[in-house]
Parts: sequence; structure tokens; C-alpha cells
Amino acid sequence: MTSPPPHPQVRSFPAPTEEARTRSVEERFRALVASVKDYAIFMLDPTGRIETWNKGAEHTKGYSAEEIIGEHISRFYTPEDLARGRPAALLARAVHDGRVEDEGWRVRKDGSRFWADVVITALVDDSGRLLGFAKVTRDLTERLRAQQEQVRLAHAEEAVRLRDEFLSIAAHELRTPLSAVQLQLQSLLEKPEGLEPRARLKVERACRSGDRLVRLVDTLLDVSRIATGSLTLTPSTFDLTDAVREVVDRFGEHAVQAQSTVSFRSEGPTSGSWDRLRIEQVVTNLLTNSLKYAAGTPVELVVRGDEKDAVLTVSDRGPGIPASEQDRIFGRFERAVPIRNFGGLGLGLYVARQIVEAHGGEISMAPRQSAGAEFVVRLPRHAPSGGPR
Ligand SMILES: Nc1ncnc2c1ncn2[C@@H]1O[C@H](COP(=O)(O)OP(=O)(O)OP(=O)(O)O)[C@@H](O)[C@H]1O
Ligand SMILES: [Mg+2]
Repeated sequence: MTSPPPHPQVRSFPAPTEEARTRSVEERFRALVASVKDYAIFMLDPTGRIETWNKGAEHTKGYSAEEIIGEHISRFYTPEDLARGRPAALLARAVHDGRVEDEGWRVRKDGSRFWADVVITALVDDSGRLLGFAKVTRDLTERLRAQQEQVRLAHAEEAVRLRDEFLSIAAHELRTPLSAVQLQLQSLLEKPEGLEPRARLKVERACRSGDRLVRLVDTLLDVSRIATGSLTLTPSTFDLTDAVREVVDRFGEHAVQAQSTVSFRSEGPTSGSWDRLRIEQVVTNLLTNSLKYAAGTPVELVVRGDEKDAVLTVSDRGPGIPASEQDRIFGRFERAVPIRNFGGLGLGLYVARQIVEAHGGEISMAPRQSAGAEFVVRLPRHAPSGGPR
């Protein structure tokens, strides 16, 4: 049988010899190692002196091949590791076990440190004689930083969780004895035989302090309800104008003390279906802020309604809030004033926003041309059909 004639277009070459093929694979492999950028791959002689250097080694450690070949690997170790004899110990372990893995800080040419993942393999000939070592190093600094950041975040989250848990337990524990003290004080004031005037004054003062404590504890309870998603609303139909007027009337004495005049007007249809106590709480928090931070300036409340929404604005002519702070102050425990000047927990606006948003509304600050702060609360007058409130 004769073999088919070669294809006219195909040129034939002599087959490479076994030796040539091995050489070509070795050359390609050497080129591959030399060009790898993410790993420092290099060889050491049996005493730990550097014999080869690839791109990754140059990239990771900062030395060029000319600078480092012939130097001892102890150059890459920190003074602490050198004092402990770590380079020699690792080479000895590699000789004993065939290879050794290590993670730790190493030093670059410029003195900066990087977190290295290192594998050192002992190279021996057929008779077991040590020829040197192959060392592969990876820079894991970024990964280490990401892990540390994750741990830091987890600790921060845990700290916040513990704080919230503590606040919730503390508020619940404080509420019951506090109510009992208030009841006792009230009963003293209501005694038919009456109190001696100076004693009455003291009891009344104690009652007022007690009321403040009750309000603080109740705010903390609200915050823990919000955190656990158990802030529930009890809607009823009422006119926002009536609710705001009632709060304004309640604040009469407070406004006199703050030397502020509080004015209120209303336009358009403003009735709707909302949780009255919670809406009054929103108005209270905004009005308290104006009388505290803008004391001595006029405070104006306006309610406007249309077919869709009722909108309440509370404005004063105090120091106002810088635009850069206007979103932050609605966060939990966020304040824009030094604690020393004004007392407060930084919760009033946070609670107000949660209540308004639970009603499907919005609360924000309006941009102002003149001095002062202006808060705008928009409440939908009708609950969205089918949506929970
Ligand atoms: N009308 C306002 N004028 C100027 N700054 C204000 C006004 N209202 C709020 N702020 C700023 O916003 C911050 C947050 O207000 P928020 O009511 O949430 O907390 P607080 O008043 O500090 O404490 P809390 O209300 O819990 O007693 C205040 O600390 C203050 O810096
Ligand atoms: Mg406040």
C-alpha cells in the first residue's frame, strides 16, 4: 500500500528531537515564572541567598533583580522576626519537612510592611543533597485589611446591638418605679387636708422633674420599639388643625419661658386618618426644638391641606442648621449642637421621622433664604388602599 501524497499546500518540518522539546518547554516555563506579577517566585541557594527574581518579586518587594540577587532573604524580615531567628528557622523547617508555609509581616525595599503568605520548598537531588529552595510569596495585605475591616464592622455592630439592648432593658426597668413615684407625688398634692405651701412647692417641682424623666424614658422606649419594628399606629379620623392647635395651647407657658411668640394658622381641608397621639408627638418634638434652639425668636406653625395631603411647617428665626447637617440630624442620637450648651438625646427628630414615615409621609428641612430653621411634614390624608399603616 502506498501512502497518500502530501497535501500540496502543507509544508512539512522535521519532527523536533526529545531534547529540543524538553528545552522549549523549560524555556517557556521559565518565561512564565519570570512574567508572573501577582506572586513573588524565586530561588534561594542552600544558605538562603537569592538566586533568581521574577516580576512579581520586584512588584511585591520593590527590589530589581540586580539589586537583590546574591542577598540573603533575611532582608525581607522585620527586626522582630530577625531577633527571633525566624528566617533560619523557616529554612530549617523546609529542610526537615520538605516545605513550610508561613504568614506574617515582611518588609519592602522602602521599609513599608506587607502581609505575606509564603511557601518555601526545599529542593534536593536524587541523593537527598540540598540544592536550595523555591520560595513563593503572595502579598495579602489587601485581604488582611478587608478581613480586619469586617471584624471591626462586626464589633461595631455588636456594640450598637448591645447599646440598644441595654437602653431597651434600662427604659423598661425604669418605667415602672418611675410611674409609682409619680403616683405617690400626685396623691400628696391631692391630699384633702392640703400641704404646707413650702412643701407643696417642693412636691410640685419633684412632679415636674418626674414628668421630664417619664418623657425621656418614653422616648427611649419608642426608640427600642422602632428598632424592633413594633411601633404600632392606631389611626382615627381627626383634623390636623385641631391636633396642632391643642399642642400649641399646651406649650403656652413653655413659650413664655422661652420668650418666644408662637403663631398658628391653617388653610384648606386638613382632616385625615392618622394616629393622633403619635402626630401630636411629632408636633411636640418640632415645637420643643424651636423653643429650645431658637428661644427668643418667633415660631410659626402653618397647616395647609389639599385633596391629597396635609402639610405642616414649623419655622423659627434661630441659628438654623447648616445644609451639610440637615440629613444627619434625623438619625439616631444625632445632634448639631455641643452637648454642654443644650441638653437632649438627639432622638426627637429621629422619632418624628419614623412616625411620619410609618404614616406614609415625609419630613424634611426646607431651604431658607432668611435665618432660622423650617421643618416640613407632609402627611397623606388618605391611607393608600390596601397598604398597611
Ligand atoms: N429648630 C432648630 N434650630 C436649630 N437646630 C435645631 C433645631 N431643631 C433641631 N436642631 C438640631 O438638630 C439636632 C437634633 O434634634 P433632635 O430633636 O433630634 O434632638 P435633641 O433636641 O438634641 O434631643 P431630644 O429631642 O432627644 O431631646 C439638635 O441637637 C440640634 O442640633
Ligand atoms: Mg429635640
